Amino acid sequence: MRDRLDFSLEDGRLGLYHKSRREIVDLQTCAQLSPELQEWLTEFRKIQWPFTKGSIRLRVGPQGQRGVWLDFANVDIKTLLDEKSILQSLQEKAFVEIGQRRKVPVWTGNEYKLRDPELHVWFQTWMKDRPVDLYCQVASFTQPSLKANKIICDVINGWIGSFPQSRIIEFGSGIGNLTLPALAAAESLTACEIDELSLEGLQKTLENLPPSLQSLREKIQIHRGDFQKKLTKDFSQFDGVLANPPRSGLMNFLNPLEELSEGQRPPFFIYMSCFPESMVKDLERLQKCGYSLEEFYIVDQFPQTAHFEVLGLLQRKKT
Ligand SMILES: C[S@@+](CC[C@H](N)C(=O)[O-])C[C@H]1O[C@@H](n2cnc3c(N)ncnc32)[C@H](O)[C@@H]1O
Repeated sequence: MRDRLDFSLEDGRLGLYHKSRREIVDLQTCAQLSPELQEWLTEFRKIQWPFTKGSIRLRVGPQGQRGVWLDFANVDIKTLLDEKSILQSLQEKAFVEIGQRRKVPVWTGNEYKLRDPELHVWFQTWMKDRPVDLYCQVASFTQPSLKANKIICDVINGWIGSFPQSRIIEFGSGIGNLTLPALAAAESLTACEIDELSLEGLQKTLENLPPSLQSLREKIQIHRGDFQKKLTKDFSQFDGVLANPPRSGLMNFLNPLEELSEGQRPPFFIYMSCFPESMVKDLERLQKCGYSLEEFYIVDQFPQTAHFEVLGLLQRKKT
């Protein structure tokens, strides 16, 4: 079940857009939510909003802490800050982030000011059976469900563990959800990610690792850039690839792999995707590069929808 929910406000209705009509279906309950998130939604719905439109995310963290991200028009944000009482009662219940820049409203004694984004533990990854706190924002990308993520991490832990002491290149590290499980068994890991705020979260996670895991910091190199456009790394320097791209897939990230001879390519390639349509296209390219699909998992982490998460382990045929 989900631990974060993205929905919209329109004319007093809070919910999701109707499949065929351009109107919001008011959602009082949702069978996709964890019990903690449903409770948070029920309480959140009691608020009377003074404006007509906006986007909202509710989140429940690993220790049950509540968060809300309010993405409203600037004029509505100003109304909210000036009105005060809604924000005050919301902050008694939850941590609040506001707008595309994820600012935090702070009461100065006589007015609200918006301060810089803050990183807190809103998600959790797993190194085998050991949970590891991940720092990010309410608004950050995370997998939708804490429990389903444990299943994903178990698969990743198992696969990476079968290639111990590998040099890994990762596409789409985000806040480090797959990075940390991979680091546990790897010799080194090069994390490639475009989103600066996610990487700030990953940095804070690395800084706050418990003493017994702090040696992992020496194994990771972080690279920020648009790696769907261009990758200057040489794949022959790596033993494995770990990829969890956005819906658009890997695109030009795969170009340098195709330019190598078969024997120079990394022996294994782990590919996780919530969008099989682009994954299939990338898998066709990988097949032409000599990889074949060895294991395959589907994790039903978007229950009661046609969407699902796919995890594939590919290995290069021995030359
Ligand atoms: C599906 S998310 C996976 C995040 C992470 N692996 C996790 O499990 O939470 C895809 C990640 O790819 C990153 N990304 C999207 N486009 C990218 C690009 N062009 N270059 C590098 N990273 C990109 C996103 O910012 C996001 O963190």
